[in-house]
Amino acid sequence: MLLRNYLQPLELLLQILLDRHLITSHCVTIITDEVIEITSPISHRYILLRGNESLTDLLMDASEASCSDYIVRIQDPRRFMVDFDYVSHHGLIRRSDRKIIILPSDLPDEENKEQLLDVLKMRESNFVVDILLVVPVDTNIDCPVYDIVTHKFVGIDSDDLIYLDRWNSCSRAFDKDGRLFTHDLSNLEGKHVKVTCFTYTPYVLLDLDPNIVPLGRDGVEVRLMEEFCRWVNCTIEIVRDAGEEWGTVYENFTGLGVLGNLVEDRADFGITALYSWYEEFLYLDFSGYGVRTAVTCIAPSPRLLASWSMPLLPFSLYMWIGLMFTFIYESFALFVAQGFSLRKIFLTSFGILITQSISDASFQSWKIRSVVGWMMLTGLVLDNAYGGGLASTFTLPRYEPSVDTIQDLVDRKMIWGATHDAWVFSLTSSRDHLLQQLVRQFHSYEPEELESLSFTRKIAYAIERLPAGYFAIGDYMTEKAVNEYTIMVQDFYYELCVVMMRKSSPYTPKMNKHIGRLHESGLMLAWEREIALSLLNYRVQREVKLSRTTRDVETIEPISFRLVIGVFILYGIGLLLATSAFIGEIIINRRNNKRRQNNT
Ligand SMILES: *[C@@H]1O[C@H](CO)[C@@H](O)[C@H](O)[C@H]1NC(C)=O
Ligand SMILES: *[C@@H]1O[C@H](CO)[C@@H](O)[C@H](O)[C@H]1NC(C)=O
Ligand SMILES: *[C@@H]1O[C@H](CO)[C@@H](O)[C@H](O)[C@H]1NC(C)=O
Repeated sequence: MLLRNYLQPLELLLQILLDRHLITSHCVTIITDEVIEITSPISHRYILLRGNESLTDLLMDASEASCSDYIVRIQDPRRFMVDFDYVSHHGLIRRSDRKIIILPSDLPDEENKEQLLDVLKMRESNFVVDILLVVPVDTNIDCPVYDIVTHKFVGIDSDDLIYLDRWNSCSRAFDKDGRLFTHDLSNLEGKHVKVTCFTYTPYVLLDLDPNIVPLGRDGVEVRLMEEFCRWVNCTIEIVRDAGEEWGTVYENFTGLGVLGNLVEDRADFGITALYSWYEEFLYLDFSGYGVRTAVTCIAPSPRLLASWSMPLLPFSLYMWIGLMFTFIYESFALFVAQGFSLRKIFLTSFGILITQSISDASFQSWKIRSVVGWMMLTGLVLDNAYGGGLASTFTLPRYEPSVDTIQDLVDRKMIWGATHDAWVFSLTSSRDHLLQQLVRQFHSYEPEELESLSFTRKIAYAIERLPAGYFAIGDYMTEKAVNEYTIMVQDFYYELCVVMMRKSSPYTPKMNKHIGRLHESGLMLAWEREIALSLLNYRVQREVKLSRTTRDVETIEPISFRLVIGVFILYGIGLLLATSAFIGEIIINRRNNKRRQNNT
């Protein structure tokens, strides 16, 4: 008690504020340019500023050590706010409910008072909920009186100041009950919150016909935001991406697109399939996840194999090589058996391989006959095997190999495309060689290019498999083109879509709670279905969904001309060769005969 009597009135007030309102704080940072006496059990860090030295590093240290409630008593508190904002952006520790108490520094005069109140009009103050100013009311009296002022964080016109209470240093009592940190964000009273997004189905659809959809916007994540605003009573204001889609964040805390809008504080919330990317986490706050999505591709469907190759299909390449060697060995055996005579060895071996009869007259000796006997046996087996294989290739239509897995896509060196590099952000830091190759094969195109490429079957298209069984497919994939594509079996990766906010945004805990409630109710799955049915191209959705099953219907079919045309082509070539050989023979024979007649 003795000590208290020596305390200045301001110190006494501070003591009361600490004991009442910061008692639960983990650690308080006190920034001052004059010594303040504090007798309080609260753990605190003391920053004594001398002159105009930089506050930034000291504040950063304190913030990283979780000393992130502040008591400020310096000449120009605006300096503190600027550095505080820098620290909230650049520090790693996030806290949504940082508390700031700013005390007047000198003897009160009007200029000082204005300077103090200006703090609340600063842009930086808009991002802090709990900020208290202690403003001296009267000068030159024995009993200084202080007003406790804060800003109006909620509501539409939030430039107003709120005089919360008044404290008299002689009576040591508040005029009211001294409840000071009153904002709990459960009613924002119509505050405008800025949401940055762009049209990306089915997460966000903007510029819809207002006659069909009120407000002209819809989408799973738009509904998430609208439901949030219904809960806490706010109004959404859309901030556009300026054609940059997701955009990027630069190291100097600027950026483009949705991410840039957030990091430069042009928006409070960012949506539109923002995945939990590590690089962005260093610059922004993430909420809990809303939609769990998986990224995969639709690749060109396998086509029916060309029918000229059908006669080759029953045997594999090695089998054909083996057959070639059999033919050579057999011819060689015949060559030896005939006493090293080359007479008709190839023709005979070939004939036997395709089970043709041979004239008995040519093989007088038993030596030759036993060799030929074994050759016939081999021929019989091979011929039957081939016949069986051929029958099966004719009854089951044969397709090119399909693209089912990442390995398939990489083996085929097939490009996969989308409109923005964001599709591979999640993969770029992977050390897996397969995934690294996959990233190298990614290419971003303009939507028009993607649309025209979709008819060439050259590239695969990145799509998202959503939790309720629908897909996020770009508009460049049209009904006409989608028939030619099949969804891959393997997912490249899965991702959790979050709502992004500025670092240490006051809304983060509220948003987490909101998303938790949505999961609890399963609303997001229902929304996805509703939107898919009403606003997406249902034919494209269905075509992709059924792309792996529709082909089962046509597996067995009667043999059509299309299947045998290859064989007929071979037959035609054979006939052509045979006819020309025949005509050639006649001509040569005739010429020989003539010559013979001339000779005789
Ligand atoms: C401090 O302020 C003085 C004058 O106002 C100026 O000359 C000096 O450069 C400042 N020092 C720093 C570190 O900003
Ligand atoms: C929401 O905010 C508006 C605008 O300030 C206000 O008129 C309304 O009463 C609020 N609604 C609720 C439920 O508090
Ligand atoms: C931030 O960095 C980007 C890219 O490095 C650059 O284009 C931009 O001009 C920088 N902005 C500022 C304000 O320094």
